[in-house]
Amino acid sequence: MIQKRFQKFLLALLIITVYSCAKQESKHNTTVTSPSKNISIDFWLQTDGSPTYSVTHRNKAIIDTSAISFDFKDQISLGKDLEILSTTTTTQDETWEMPWGEQKEVRNHYNELIVNLKEKKAPHRLFNIYFRSYDDGIALRYEFLNQEGVNEVIILDENTQFNLTGDHKTWWIPGDWDIYEHLYTESSFTAIDALSKANHPSLGQTHIPENAVNTPVTMRTKDGVHLSFHEANLTDYAGMTLKVDPKNTSMTSELVGSKRYGYKVKRALPFKTPWRTIQISDNAADLITSKLIVNLNEPNKLGDVSWFKPKKYVGIWWEMHLGKSSWDLASGKHGATTENTKRHIDFAAANNIDGVLVEGWNTGWEHWIGFEDREGVFDFVTPYPDYDLKELAKYSKEKDVEIIMHHETSAAPRTYDQQMNQAYALMDSLDIRSVKTGYVGKIIPKGEYHHGQWMVNHYRNALETAAKYNVAINAHEPIKATGIRRTYPNAISREGLRGQEFNAWAADGGNPPSHLPTVAFTRMLAGPIDFTPGVFNIKLAPYKDNNQINTTLAHQLALYVVIYSPIQMACDLIENYENQPAFQFIRDVAVDWNQTKVLNGEIGDFVTIARQDRITGNWFLGSITDENPRDITIDFSFLDTSKTYDVVVYKDGKDAHWDKNPTSIAIETITVNANSKETFHLAAGGGLAISLIEKE
Ligand code: NOJ
Ligand code: CA
Repeated sequence: MIQKRFQKFLLALLIITVYSCAKQESKHNTTVTSPSKNISIDFWLQTDGSPTYSVTHRNKAIIDTSAISFDFKDQISLGKDLEILSTTTTTQDETWEMPWGEQKEVRNHYNELIVNLKEKKAPHRLFNIYFRSYDDGIALRYEFLNQEGVNEVIILDENTQFNLTGDHKTWWIPGDWDIYEHLYTESSFTAIDALSKANHPSLGQTHIPENAVNTPVTMRTKDGVHLSFHEANLTDYAGMTLKVDPKNTSMTSELVGSKRYGYKVKRALPFKTPWRTIQISDNAADLITSKLIVNLNEPNKLGDVSWFKPKKYVGIWWEMHLGKSSWDLASGKHGATTENTKRHIDFAAANNIDGVLVEGWNTGWEHWIGFEDREGVFDFVTPYPDYDLKELAKYSKEKDVEIIMHHETSAAPRTYDQQMNQAYALMDSLDIRSVKTGYVGKIIPKGEYHHGQWMVNHYRNALETAAKYNVAINAHEPIKATGIRRTYPNAISREGLRGQEFNAWAADGGNPPSHLPTVAFTRMLAGPIDFTPGVFNIKLAPYKDNNQINTTLAHQLALYVVIYSPIQMACDLIENYENQPAFQFIRDVAVDWNQTKVLNGEIGDFVTIARQDRITGNWFLGSITDENPRDITIDFSFLDTSKTYDVVVYKDGKDAHWDKNPTSIAIETITVNANSKETFHLAAGGGLAISLIEKE
C-alpha cells in the first residue's frame, strides 16, 4: 500500500516536472542571432511562466536551459507566472573611437532582443529582459519598471543561471567579496573548490562565504570553444560572483552583500541592472581582442580627456615593497623626500618616461596597516615636512615630467569622500592629472565589502568627482573593471589582481611563471591592468633573501606589450636600470595603440601580442611563456608592406631560466618584412620583446 502510494507520488512528481519544463507556446519572436549568425540566444517561458534562456554557438548548445529569478525583501520572488507582452528586435552597427586604448576604433555590432514581461498574478510587476548577440559573445540585463505603491526594491538575491554543457576546463579565482588578489587555479569545473583558498596569509582582507568564483572566469570546452563569464557596466549595483554547482555543471549569479544592511542591492524604481556577459570564441587569442565589455557601456560622458596622456612612469614604490625605504616618516627611512623625488624626475626626463609616482608623501602612514580605527587618519593634502609638494610640481614641470599623486585610503572611504574635492582641487592647481588610489584593509564601516553596492558607488563617486578637476584614477584594491572606461575615460587603469608586489613579499613564493599567461585570458578581458612590470634585479638582492621574480628578464620586457594599460610602470629601483642595454626596450616602447594583434596563445601556457603605436606607427611585440620553454613562430604579416623597419629583438639567452639564470638576455638586430616568418626560443618562464621602428 505504502509502496503504491509512493509510486503514484513519483508519477505525479514526474508529470509536474515534465509539465513545468515544457515551453510555453509563444507568438512572439524570442530568438536573437549575432550579425554573422555564429551565436544565437533563445528565450522562452516555461509553462509555469518562469523565464528561461539558452545559447548556441555554431548551432551547438553552449549554455543549456537556464533560469532567471530574483528574491526581494518585502516582496514575493519574481520568476514565475510571467507572460510576454511584446518583444522588439533591433540592430546596431556603429564605430566609436577610444580616446586611449588597445586600438583606436571599435566596432559595436549586435542584434538586440527586448522581451517585455508582466506577472499574470498580483502584484502584476513589469519586468524587461534585454538580450544582445554579438559575433564575440552574448549579454543579458534586466530592467525593473515602475510599480504602483513601490518606490524601491531591495534585492536579496539575483539568480541568473549559466547552465554549462560539460565539465569544462576552468581558470578561476575564488568569489572573494573583498579582494581579487588570488592566484588563478586551473581545474575542471567540477573540481572548483573556492573555499579551500579562504585564508590567504598575504592578504589584508578576504571574505569568501561559499563555493563561488569571481569574474572574469574563463573556460575551454572539450570542443575547444572558449568562454569567459563577466559583467559590463557595473553601476549602482553589487558586484557579481558566480556560485558553482558542480553536480549540475551550472553557475548562478551570487551578488556581493552588505552585512551592515543585510541585503545585496537597494535601488529606486525604475532601473537597469549591469549586463551579464559571456565572451565566446573559437580560440583563446580571440578572447583578448573581443571588445564586448566596453561595447556594452555608454558612450564617453566626459568629452575631451586629452589632458590625460598615456605614459610610462617610474616611482618611489618598489623600494618600499623591498623594505629599502618606508612610507611613514617615523620609520627613519622615509622614501618620499624632495631629494629622492628629484632624482626620479631627472631619471624619467633622461629616459623617455613621462611620469613619477610618489607614495608616502602625505601624513597618516604611521597609523596604517594593523590599525582598526583608520577613519580620519590619512590626510590627502598635507605633505610630510621633508616633501616639498609645490617645489616638486614646479621642478617636474620644468623637466616635462608629471608627478603621479597617491591616495591610500586604507579602506576608510568615508574619510576619502570628505576630502576628495579638496584633494583633487589641489592636484588641479598643481597640474597633476592622475592619482593612484588604494583601499588596503577591511572596509570601514564594518559589514561592507570592497565589491558590494556601497563601495561600487564609492568608486564611481571618486571617478565622477575627479573628472570635474580633470583628474584620472588608477585604483588599487578596486572594484573590477566592467568597461566603465568607455563612459568615464578618466578610469585609466586599476589593479584587481595579484600584481608584481606579491613577488617582493608574498610568503607563498610569489607569482608563478604561468601567472601572466593566465591573467592575459582572464583578468585582462575586464580592462587595463596596473601590473607594474620591469624588474631587472630579478633576485631582489640585497633586500629580499626569500623572494624573487619568477620570470626571466625578457619576460619582464614582453609584459609592456602583453599586459595592456595606458600607464605602464618601470617599477624597479632606477639604479637597477643604469648601464642595462635591455632598458632600451622600455625607453622605446609605446603605451597607446592604434591596433592590437594577438598572434597566438593558450590560456596559462603562452601568449604573443603585437601592438601598433598610435603616434608613430611603430610596432612592438611581446611574447611570454609559463614554466615550459617553447619555440614561437611569428608571422610578421601585420607589418605594412610599403614600410621598412629597424628591428631589435630582446630574447632569452641560450642558458636563460626563470630561476637558474633569469637575467640571461640576448639583444640582436634583425631584418624582417611583412613576408617574414621567424622562430624564436623562449626559456622556461621566459619571454621575447621586439621593437619595430619605422625607418625614415
Ligand atoms: C597596495 C597597492 O597595491 C600598492 O601598490 C601600494 O604600494 C600599497 N597599497 C600602499 O598604498
Ligand atoms: Ca594590492
